[in-house]
Amino acid sequence: MRISIIGCGSMGLVYARAFLRYNLVKQGKLLLAEKNEARRDELRQYHLGEVVLTSDPLIAESDVIIIAVKPQDFPEVAPQLAHRLKPGTVVLSIMAGIRLAQLEEMLGHTTLVRAMPNAPVEVGMGITGFSAHLSASRAQIQKVEHLLSSTGRTLYFEDESLLDAVTALSGSGPAYFYYILQAMVDAGRNLGLSESESSLLVKHTMNGAFQLVNNSNRPFDELIKAVASRGGTTEAALNVFEQKGLHNIIVEGIVRAEERSRQLSEYKSITDQETRA
Ligand SMILES: NC(=O)c1ccc[n+]([C@@H]2O[C@H](COP(=O)([O-])OP(=O)(O)OC[C@H]3O[C@@H](n4cnc5c(N)ncnc54)[C@H](OP(=O)(O)O)[C@@H]3O)[C@@H](O)[C@H]2O)c1
Repeated sequence: MRISIIGCGSMGLVYARAFLRYNLVKQGKLLLAEKNEARRDELRQYHLGEVVLTSDPLIAESDVIIIAVKPQDFPEVAPQLAHRLKPGTVVLSIMAGIRLAQLEEMLGHTTLVRAMPNAPVEVGMGITGFSAHLSASRAQIQKVEHLLSSTGRTLYFEDESLLDAVTALSGSGPAYFYYILQAMVDAGRNLGLSESESSLLVKHTMNGAFQLVNNSNRPFDELIKAVASRGGTTEAALNVFEQKGLHNIIVEGIVRAEERSRQLSEYKSITDQETRA
């Protein structure tokens, strides 16, 4: 299989490394198309594949082309690719907020898959929601799923509009988690612990709690009850969270993120986007 990655910033590099790690592509059949000259020099030192410009004719020989530029750079990339895409070439876009219909219109191509990964793909622990254009065959979708799986779990959505919810939940989710970690570390410091002590306690607690959740079929409220004995310390904290409406605040925030994802996806706004995920 020949793969081209257009835009080899942080995400493009993650995919290149993951594909090679799992032997999904040979180094000689991986093209890394990058606009930034300094980045191209850096990529050459990693010896992951051939480093080229997006205008390179070899890209047309790819079985899969991954578009990993920022959404605002897509209007520049689209015309460079459009006239060179072969009918069987699968195009996978990980650009946040650019819908399949927009990809089809700007690339003049229908063998399309759109995916929303999240930051833990960097350590092979990501989760990626994805949808495909109706023209993509089952075999083509499976091929892409196989590639995406090299960075973690995947979840297919027949209804593309649900990718806005995926963006709000798992795309942005790591930031919510860091936010809670930061608040816990700050609390530890207020209580007299050093930054490093507080940080170690919090990180290890969250990692351990995650392992417990992941190895248990018990619902969250049962797991909470198992820690919070009546009249105890955990209950004291949970009462404050409830009184201040923390649960609802989190739900509201995520609903707002989904709305924002839909707004940002509006066709007309493609060129004025900065960050979306
Ligand atoms: N990071 C995440 O957690 C995450 C999660 C979900 C989805 N995404 C999506 O993944 C995409 C990439 O994100 P990223 O964080 O990897 O961005 P990034 O680090 O900025 O990487 C994009 C790279 O593409 C280059 N580029 C721009 N125009 C190009 C062109 N015409 N041809 C070739 N290369 C070009 C950029 O060069 P310059 O620096 O010179 O512009 C940059 O090196 C975005 O669309 C984002 O929405 C990211």
